[in-house]
Amino acid sequence: MIDERRFRLYLCAAIHCSAAGRAAVHRALAQQIAAAGLGDAVELRDSGCQNRCEDAPNLTVWPGPVRYRRLQPADVARLVIARLHDDAPPSDSGSAR
Ligand code: FES
Repeated sequence: MIDERRFRLYLCAAIHCSAAGRAAVHRALAQQIAAAGLGDAVELRDSGCQNRCEDAPNLTVWPGPVRYRRLQPADVARLVIARLHDDAPPSDSGSAR
């Protein structure tokens, strides 16, 4: 089976990002993906450590990579979903802050 979703979001699920609130970010991403009607275009996956632990929680978006660091639930709609909703690869923000 071919996965035809346009974007893959890899949210780090390792120890530092978990301690920094990745569960809340995951909930926000899942809610916003559904609310924006992007479920067929976006796949949200857990990843291992992305080797940027000092910037936890970390998210990497493909195609890209486009990396988001210190991502917080309140940042999800503005930084991630709005760009995906335009069906264009998100520009590299480099940071949520
Ligand atoms: S634990 Fe998330 S980048 Fe290392």
